[in-house]
Amino acid sequence: MKRIGILTAGGDTPALNATIYGAVVRASQLQVELYGFIKGFSSLLNPRLPHLHLNPLFRPIPELDPTLGGTLLGASRDYVDNSDPDLLDQVVHRLGQLGIEGLICVGGDGTLNGMQPLAERLPAVLAPKTIDNDLGLNYPSEVDEWQREEKGGAEGVFRRPGRVEFNQEYMINYVTPGYATAVFESAQGVQRVRTTAESHRRIAIIEVMGRHSGYIALGSAYGQPDIALIPECPVRTQALVERVMELYDLQKNAVIVCGEGVIDEEGRELGAATHSTDPAGNIALSGAAEALRQLLVDRIGDEYFRSQRRGDKASAAVFTRKVGHTQRGGRPVLFDRTYAAQLGGKAVEMLLGGQSNALAVLQWNRSQGFYVDSYDANRLRDRWGHIHARQVHPSFYDAEGMRPSAAGIQYLLPIFANAVGHDDLEYIRQSLFRAGNLILPYHSINTDVHRRIRYLS
Ligand code: F6P
Repeated sequence: MKRIGILTAGGDTPALNATIYGAVVRASQLQVELYGFIKGFSSLLNPRLPHLHLNPLFRPIPELDPTLGGTLLGASRDYVDNSDPDLLDQVVHRLGQLGIEGLICVGGDGTLNGMQPLAERLPAVLAPKTIDNDLGLNYPSEVDEWQREEKGGAEGVFRRPGRVEFNQEYMINYVTPGYATAVFESAQGVQRVRTTAESHRRIAIIEVMGRHSGYIALGSAYGQPDIALIPECPVRTQALVERVMELYDLQKNAVIVCGEGVIDEEGRELGAATHSTDPAGNIALSGAAEALRQLLVDRIGDEYFRSQRRGDKASAAVFTRKVGHTQRGGRPVLFDRTYAAQLGGKAVEMLLGGQSNALAVLQWNRSQGFYVDSYDANRLRDRWGHIHARQVHPSFYDAEGMRPSAAGIQYLLPIFANAVGHDDLEYIRQSLFRAGNLILPYHSINTDVHRRIRYLS
């Protein structure tokens, strides 16, 4: 292969530029040209195929900074699927006109689904990313546990519990780039909110992202919340109320972190008041923390706070905050940069080695630590061809204590022991209060990249 393409799809994630950089470096070493496509799959759907050459003379363009958050290529949640074969043929024809012989898609499960029909027409591989850390398997046979059955005319999907003894060395894609940075941000959010909870004798509920996977909430335990609630384990209302009151009796404050996808004992998503979906078909989750707040306000009541010599009503004592998109933004921490770049390089090697419909994965074992490998994308699909978001393994969570279990802690330690580099902190020290930040307007990378965009003539 002499020329390959790369695109970044789905929600932006901190280490995307690092993945692109890793791919550029490896492609350049192998004397392969790398073209970037603008705004994910939407570029391929555009007859003009907006693109830019990322390594003229086999050197990375100067705009490509692996320490910069987001993606210089832009991202979108537009995907291609099998429903329109003519459109797919047109896409592949256009790529052929540009001399593209293989494609790297950087993304999560939605991107992998989008890549599949293309991989039937030209070599395509995925480099993983997602702050949710939900791309992968807790063990290879996990995918076979999914079952389907008719329920009241509709098809229900559920999972039979596996009989596999869990061992973190068998996880497929132990962790995805973006996750460590998201936790870096959310754990700090938890720590900082504690100050107000402590000083004002309040109960804080902090909502973190992750859709139906609780990895970010689990990792946020580094910020020492009193309680961590994950979507995989239904909220036990009575136990939660009792635990919060017990904590409040003792320390006059409580901090709860919850994943945005937490569910109640009936399996209803607390945060999905409106079942709107994004273009990838995901349920838009908002308001889990608010729902929990209402629950605590109703169940604890004003009288309790008065008895604690708190003048405020329950509604004033319980407050919520969302960490929000700051989890996805900004400079990726060292862990994410390092492995994102390696995974980008691995994706190039996979294409050149003749692989297709496969993904680069980040594996871990006790003797080697982290290392990159590849995995057949079909092995992430259940027998109906569906890719499920990986959930926090039950052994990682102590449902009684509402916190990570011993196994959960063992899972987190290798990722976070050295996740933050000295340069990450030095960067903040040197850049945040630069006088120029007040004087000069923000200079967007999009402006520079725009000058390099070319179109199919
Ligand atoms: O999948 C990544 C993610 O950040 C989720 O954790 C979150 O639910 C969603 O994307 C938010 O998407 P958007 O930025 O489109 O609102």
